Parts: sequence; structure tokens; C-alpha cells
Amino acid sequence: MKIVHISDVHFGFEHLKDKAEKAIKQINDIEPDIVLLTGDVGLWGIHHEFKEAYETLSQLRADLFAIPGNHDARNDGLKYFELYFGKPRKDVRTDDVVILGVNSTLPDTDDGYIGPHQREWMAKKVRKNCINVIAMHHHIVPVPHTGRNMNVLIDAAETVEALTIHCHGGIVLAGHRHVPYSTKLLRTHIIHAGSLSSYKVLMPDNSYNIIEIGNDKIDLKLRFVDLGEIEIGTFTLKPEPPDSLLKYHRLTSTKKVLFVSSQNSCRTKIAEAIFNRDAPHNMHAVSAGFMPASDVSDLARFLAERSGLKLTKPRKLVDEMIDDADCVVFFDDDTGEIRADEVWKIRAPESEEEAIRMMKELEKRVNELIRKLFTG
Ligand SMILES: [Fe+2]
Ligand SMILES: [Fe+2]
Repeated sequence: MKIVHISDVHFGFEHLKDKAEKAIKQINDIEPDIVLLTGDVGLWGIHHEFKEAYETLSQLRADLFAIPGNHDARNDGLKYFELYFGKPRKDVRTDDVVILGVNSTLPDTDDGYIGPHQREWMAKKVRKNCINVIAMHHHIVPVPHTGRNMNVLIDAAETVEALTIHCHGGIVLAGHRHVPYSTKLLRTHIIHAGSLSSYKVLMPDNSYNIIEIGNDKIDLKLRFVDLGEIEIGTFTLKPEPPDSLLKYHRLTSTKKVLFVSSQNSCRTKIAEAIFNRDAPHNMHAVSAGFMPASDVSDLARFLAERSGLKLTKPRKLVDEMIDDADCVVFFDDDTGEIRADEVWKIRAPESEEEAIRMMKELEKRVNELIRKLFTG
């Protein structure tokens, strides 16, 4: 797949018409499969900038995939962006390549933000056996020689981690600082486009990128509108995330465990209490039964008093509890339709003696589970 990556066209006061028109002719001769525009269509988010941009960029023969920049979000401008260029967040895919465009803008500020919802969306949309191209306006690492190194995404760290873990063969395309630049962070290739047609250009000339994606490789060329083409290089894509990052991610993510039985039984209440007594800070357990109960059982109360455990009131199982849980432990043989990550065949006690034996067994099983969740 051949991608032409343009950015910061800045229709309006900053716009250089002759550069844009010359670049469009060049791009049509290159015959890319798609043209990606990583934001800053206009300057003030006002209607005539988007209209003029649409009319000019319609001369591109390839499909245009555009996402907004901070300038487009000014003055409620995203509604006009959407009128001409579609949703601020969008995706397109072929057999080998997935392209995701995320909206990194915030209204009336130049700061960039991806946010947890868009990160979850990215994680769902990427494909393991594809090259995943993520387009955003703001940069996830500072770009040198821009005179303003601080202006990265507010949530750059979380976004880099999400990209590294989820984006198999990940490429990030961005703009914003009007400086072409490329670097690699862990296994993500970051490629910035300069400005195609703004007079605020911090390089010898306005420019765009030509990116060819092949089998596990990307070939990157920087094309200056009036000064010709520079071969930047060929990069091999790495299929797996670094093991160290996965370990850190596991240690910083929380784990919720759900103990379920058909009734609100002594077993699940005691398992929950042991888990919450012994687990590290990033883990928590809840328990629930199919049927509501007015109070915890006498045997559960007996064990709790004897061992200093804290019992919670009975809860009725609802679907959200299953959805929220990282691990569901089921205490009865027949789990029905319910997702069960583990089934513990521990019989409900009928006497205080049986309850004491059950508690010992539960302490062992719960601590094995904690260890398993902790080490992954
Ligand atoms: Fe810009
Ligand atoms: Fe920008």
C-alpha cells in the first residue's frame, strides 16, 4: 500500500495556495492508494476554511482520509470539519493494513488528548496480522528543532503503552509541529509530516511523506514541494511487544475477581473476605449469588468471627459484574451460561468442623489465585 501523508494544510490566513496546488499535482502523479491528512485543515475552525480546503483537496484523485487538528477544533469548528471531511474518528481497512484515525483535539485549546475511550477503540480495531497505521494530529514524543518541545499529548505515556501492547506492526502518523521527523519508540514507528501549505514552515520547504508499506517493512520518503525528494529509509516492523513492557503493564493494571455460586453461600463470602485480606493493592474481589439473600449464613459469620475476616452483605449477580471481572471463579458444577475462568469444586459446609476445613482449603486456593494474577 502506498500512502501519501500530508498535514497542516492550514487553509485561511496562513495558507500558501501555490504550494498546495503544486503538491496536489505531484501527489496525483505518485498515484497513492490513499492520502492521509493529519489535521489542521484550517486556522480558526471557521466554515469558509473547510469549504475552501474541501474544494481544493477534491482535486486529489486518491481517497482522502482526514482527521482534525487543534486549529480545526477552535470555535466549535469540528461541526464544519465533519460536514466536509466526515467523522473526526474513523477507520478503514484492507486485507493487510488497518488505518485508524483518532481525534486528539480538545475544544478551544492547543493541547492534545486521546483518552481511555479512544484507546479502547484502538485496541478493538487493530488486527494482529495486519500493519496498523494510527493517524493523530498531536505528537506522542517531543519533536526536536521545533522550538517547542513540551507540547506532546497530555496522555502520551498511556497512549504509547497502548500502542506498544496492542498495535502489532504499529505506525503512528502525526503532524502539528510543522516539522517532518521520524523515530521509533519500542516497536512503534512514529512519522511526522511537515506542513504541506502553511507559511509557518520550520524546514527548508513545505513537504509531505510518501510511505510504502510492504511485507513487515515500511519505506519512507520525505518530499519537499519545491526541493525534491529525500530517501529517509526502510524500517522493519517488529511483530511482538517487548516483554519488559508487558510485565510493567501487568503490575500497574488492576484485577477484579468475582466469586459466584448459585446461592449467596458461605463459600463465596469467605473466599471474598480471604482474597481482600491477602491480595496486593491492585486487586479486589466481590462475591455474588444467583438468588438474593437477606443475610450471610451462620457458618460464614462463625468463620469470620473466629478468624477476624470482614464479611460484606450478600449481592445478587447481575451481568455487569461478569463483564467487569478479570477473573470469574464459579463454585458449582453447572455454570449455565455464565463465563467461568475457574471452577472450584468445594462443597458447602454443613457443620462448624466442615467450615473450618473448608476455610483452610479456601486460603490455599485463594492465595494460589492471587499469585497467578500477580505474576500473569
Ligand atoms: Fe499546524
Ligand atoms: Fe496543530
